Amino acid sequence: MIAITGASGHLGKATLEFLLTKTNPESIVAIVRDPQKLTDFAGKGVAVRQGDYTDQASFVTSLAGVDTLLLISSAVLGDERVNQHNNVINAAKEAGVKHIFYTSAPNPSLESSFSPAIDHFRTENLILESGLTYTIFRNNLYLDLLPMVIGDAAQSGKLYYPAGDGKTSFVLRTDIAEGLANALTSEGHENKVYDIGSTTAWSFSDIVASLSSAQKTVEYIDIPGSAYEAELVKHLPPVVAKIYAGMAEGIKKNEFNVPSSTLKELLGREPVSLDAYLKSVA
Ligand SMILES: NC(=O)c1ccc[n+]([C@@H]2O[C@H](COP(=O)([O-])OP(=O)(O)OC[C@H]3O[C@@H](n4cnc5c(N)ncnc54)[C@H](OP(=O)(O)O)[C@@H]3O)[C@@H](O)[C@H]2O)c1
Repeated sequence: MIAITGASGHLGKATLEFLLTKTNPESIVAIVRDPQKLTDFAGKGVAVRQGDYTDQASFVTSLAGVDTLLLISSAVLGDERVNQHNNVINAAKEAGVKHIFYTSAPNPSLESSFSPAIDHFRTENLILESGLTYTIFRNNLYLDLLPMVIGDAAQSGKLYYPAGDGKTSFVLRTDIAEGLANALTSEGHENKVYDIGSTTAWSFSDIVASLSSAQKTVEYIDIPGSAYEAELVKHLPPVVAKIYAGMAEGIKKNEFNVPSSTLKELLGREPVSLDAYLKSVA
């Protein structure tokens, strides 16, 4: 049986949908904090079980009979996040899970500018130490985040962002989900670390070129990271502002510039491109 955590989230739900096209619902376990959130999947025959990352025992119970687990990284950050992941990894060992898939980030390291990548580095190490067979999906930044970054640039003609000429191998979240479902239901992914993103990478100059039209040219204005963070803290809690500022710094340092053909191979087609995505949401 294949279990998915975070099954009520965007990535988890999309992965469940793709899995249902590839395998029978009786072999899928969806683990959520609140099973009421997945009554539609329960109605399709998926086993919906309760599990909270903060409660290891709940996961030992919900992982009964599971061979392969997809651990979708938690939404909290720092030590709390790593502890939550550790609970799930320990529960997986106790419950007899054989293979764990994990959603990580590009270039995870203790020195990452993007602080969530520090948690991913620590979690990847916990997985390596666990002795479980693993597949790490180092998911690049979601294309789906771009509208938040771009704001009204297409209308105003100006995109202010502190990313220099750094490039990112952005990826559509549903493409990751399809890739996960394909990998979860096929052989040959044992003890592999996959860079999951586009086969190319795009800079903010590429983004404004894509946003520009015959009627309107959009200009990219590279601003200092400190000015960007100062603006963010006017609207967001300082801790959240720091994460977004760190993301921009990571882009500038090319921490997300990881072109790879792995997702293309898993999908059997090119992942959705920046241009196609921006046209679809215009
Ligand atoms: N690559 C990127 O650009 C990017 C962007 C954003 C996030 N991420 C990471 O990728 C993950 C998946 O993305 P997403 O878009 O699917 O995020 P999402 O929609 O926020 O989903 C997060 C999921 O985690 C579950 N969860 C949170 N805390 C939990 C806990 N204590 N116990 C059990 N489940 C818990 C949530 O359950 P509830 O429904 O109960 O809240 C939800 O199902 C995120 O959690 C984050 O780590 C990556």
